[in-house]
Amino acid sequence: MVRRPDAGEECAESEEVPMMREVFHNASASASSVEAAGFPEMPTREPLAFHQRLPGYRPSPLVDAPGLAEILGVAQVSIKDESSRFGLPAFKVLGACWAVYRALQQIVVERLGVQPSDDWTDIAELRAVLAPLRPMTLTAVTAGNHGRAVARVARWLDFDARILVPAGTAPARIAAIEEEGASVVVVDGTYDDAVERLAGEADERTLLISDTAWPGYEQIPRWVIEGYSTIFWEIDDVMEGWPDLVIVPVGVGALAAAAVRHYRRLGGERTPVLVGVESLHAACVLESLRAGGIVTVPGPHDSIMAGLNAGTPSLVAWPYLSQGLDAVVAIEDDRAREGMRALARVGVVAGETGAAALGALIELIKGGEGFPIDPGARVLLLSTEGVTDREAYELIVGEPPVGS
Ligand SMILES: Cc1ncc(COP(=O)(O)O)c(C=O)c1O
Repeated sequence: MVRRPDAGEECAESEEVPMMREVFHNASASASSVEAAGFPEMPTREPLAFHQRLPGYRPSPLVDAPGLAEILGVAQVSIKDESSRFGLPAFKVLGACWAVYRALQQIVVERLGVQPSDDWTDIAELRAVLAPLRPMTLTAVTAGNHGRAVARVARWLDFDARILVPAGTAPARIAAIEEEGASVVVVDGTYDDAVERLAGEADERTLLISDTAWPGYEQIPRWVIEGYSTIFWEIDDVMEGWPDLVIVPVGVGALAAAAVRHYRRLGGERTPVLVGVESLHAACVLESLRAGGIVTVPGPHDSIMAGLNAGTPSLVAWPYLSQGLDAVVAIEDDRAREGMRALARVGVVAGETGAAALGALIELIKGGEGFPIDPGARVLLLSTEGVTDREAYELIVGEPPVGS
């Protein structure tokens, strides 16, 4: 689906605002395919076929923004608009539901000794397949979106959900998780502290669905990465050829790992430059690349780009990030605000984290030397969320989200 807004809707901030930033060029990135770089498996369309059977599936829009491209001096800006996935305001449900599904299939085999049927056609039939596993609680740590997604999957399946959030999580984000029927626990500490607490929560009837991995907990976060592949298949299905530059917001790095899996796969048309964007307040992937291995950056992680407030990259995302990302740029919150306003002008409703990719593009273009972007470049931006805190959105953008 390609939507073209009127050219008159578009313009970018005119003032040049110097801001802090960090750019790390990753010399270890392999320009060749994931297979050549030693990655274990190729992406398949299996998760997409699964998502297509869920209630309310439709591909998210790919918005062409020619006015924005002109202002920024590139040939094309395409925005993958993830502001509504199954009615939730972020892409994260794609990973959460695929991981839950794969994990539950495995549990059915282990506990019931039967192969679960895969020929269900809608959620009611899937619920029936998984009913023998009740009572079951899904649990997760979240900065907002992942937990809300896990809570939604629990609701679909008639399971319970218990979601942990770090201290300081916006009340609007907590309320949204509770509205999905989950109980929410506020952990006194950072996202990483909450992850540590989560690691002790699993038992017979409590399934941990984390989007980040640590030693000994790796399979479910791998499935989360697989689940995100749907975004890239949908883009392939409507975009002519691959873009030259892809900018992806990075928290623990699962989404960026999915981008690397997709665009570095064997037989790919050509290789886009892959750039991750982090917050200067939590640049854990940038610092890990610099250190040559996973490091934790100390909190507090208090960026308004809440989805990027992670202090440690995911263990299973790391091989993709370290060998597949060409660069990481860490930006100030004000760039995200600027991105939100510019996206609103082209009709895309983006929350703070969602606007990070455009914020990064603006930073790379306006922010001085060091990252030349070809005027002929076709740029793909992942706008990963819509409004998650309405009050904050209106304050930043100066008006309510369009269509609300
Ligand atoms: C809206 C949004 N965008 C991007 C990200 C980053 O994804 P990842 O943690 O997989 O790097 C998150 C993570 O929560 C998010 O909520």
